[in-house]
Amino acid sequence: MPVLNRVSRAAASIVIVVGIVAATVVSASALGTSGLASSAPWPVGVAIDQRETVGSPASVVASEFSQITAENAMKPDAIQPREGEFTFTGADRLIDFAQAHGLRVWGHTLVWHKQTPAWFFTDPITKQPLTDSPADRALLLERMRVHITTLATHLSTRYGAFGSSTNPIVAFDVVNEVIDEWETNGLRRSEWYRILGPSFIDSAFQIANDAFNAGKTVDPPVALFLNDYGTEWPKKRQAVMTVASGLLDRDIPLGGVGSQFHLTVGSSPVSDVGDTLDAFATLGVEQAVTELDASVSGTVTPEALSVQGEYFRAIGERLMRHPELFSVTVWGLNDSRSWRTGAPLLFNDDLSKKPSYDGLRAAVSPKVTPTPTGTTPTPTPTPTRTSLIPPTPTPTATSAVPTQPVPAATVPSSTKVPDAPTVVPLKPLQISRVTVSGKLRVGQRLVARVPSALPTNAQVTYQWYTVKSTGKKVAITKARSRTFTVPKRLKRSTIVVRVTASATGYERAVKWSRLITIR
Ligand code: G3I
Repeated sequence: MPVLNRVSRAAASIVIVVGIVAATVVSASALGTSGLASSAPWPVGVAIDQRETVGSPASVVASEFSQITAENAMKPDAIQPREGEFTFTGADRLIDFAQAHGLRVWGHTLVWHKQTPAWFFTDPITKQPLTDSPADRALLLERMRVHITTLATHLSTRYGAFGSSTNPIVAFDVVNEVIDEWETNGLRRSEWYRILGPSFIDSAFQIANDAFNAGKTVDPPVALFLNDYGTEWPKKRQAVMTVASGLLDRDIPLGGVGSQFHLTVGSSPVSDVGDTLDAFATLGVEQAVTELDASVSGTVTPEALSVQGEYFRAIGERLMRHPELFSVTVWGLNDSRSWRTGAPLLFNDDLSKKPSYDGLRAAVSPKVTPTPTGTTPTPTPTPTRTSLIPPTPTPTATSAVPTQPVPAATVPSSTKVPDAPTVVPLKPLQISRVTVSGKLRVGQRLVARVPSALPTNAQVTYQWYTVKSTGKKVAITKARSRTFTVPKRLKRSTIVVRVTASATGYERAVKWSRLITIR
């Protein structure tokens, strides 16, 4: 059968099912203001399904986190269970919830060897597995294209253009778990690989970048990730580095690398996690932690849980050495919702905080130097752009992590002059990434931009650095300007920009953004 017919058939008959379901609306005051996310230098995410969009789980998600990942609802088997039949109900329910609560959405996942229906790899006529013949390769490539573009079109139709204020999608796992460090080229021998060869990864990123970013490679609205587990294992870490560098060398629009970090207390050394963060930081693309959990080894006892708490504190402190991380996501809300045993998450099943929560929160919370007593603090002027601040923001983000609920502090009204400065953490300052795909050219001008939603009196400074392979940062500009021109002497290095924003009455916010390596 001529390819055309089979291929066009793949595109022709598309049935779409969308979701119109109401999720719980969590009160404004509880929104991400008092939780983990408001303390951390990067967005903090959680993997959820529809169960976490209602009731108390919804309140905890909305108040503690600033991003969600669909645990299963956006995977190929959920989105296109049968060829041409698309069901978006599950995905829409989660994204509606996120949109309603100002949460970012991390898309998971477009191309994977699991939870992908067999029809993708089956001949529609003979029902035989596809071969690597040109005709079958063309058919599978067309199926990949139809799947990704139909999903992207649905999301931009329902939520507005990617990158716009109505569309919460900020990143996607384009390919998931494609690395096999025991293969010579480091690639898993999946069905995608058997039929299309290693170039299926290049194709997936090109198709995704066209679908989500209209082919944009400078500052694309949706960061496109290669995501994998076991990246903390030295051999797999190296395999990811090799595959990612290969993609960048071929100018494939790789936006970032994601480490799942499914860890085990006592057998996943924190130093291994740290070495991976440092190594991936030299790739010159975004980096994220995408599926963090850490099971206790052995029986779950109160002692084991407090050791787990120390472990999460140590992991948190190691993550804090990378303030430029795109985001840090935990793979589930409470223990019984996890795919693993060993109580690997931050919340008990009654949604109370575990020592693991306290440990991570302690590590990420900015250390505020207490105001020396006896000095008369300057009164805090009323913030100008109230739209920036939810009605009842967090009290001072002190380092000591209270396990009992934190009493809400009220924003001082213009009449009330508080007797001590109320430190109000700014909602995570999200720098619009100045990611540049492919190679930077000497003489190229780079501009760092921060969203305009900053208080008009905010002092914003930009400092540009190079990142050595050791991860050490060396300042390269004295002048603190938001534009930077790539000079000759900076061959083969990675550049980052550190943006500091501070405004009276607001806590100083620092955010790093990463740029591509100069070749
Ligand atoms: O939806 C069916 C339901 O209809 C059926 O009644 C039920 C009973 O078998 O199964 C349900 O499907 C389950 C699905 O989760 C949805 O709950 C699958 O059996 C189950 O295997 C699937 O597990 C998911 C697993 O990925 C599958 O690979 C886990 O929830 C999810 O946490 C896990 O997440 C993966 C990431 O996507 C990638 N990295 C590793 C991570 C852990 O495996």
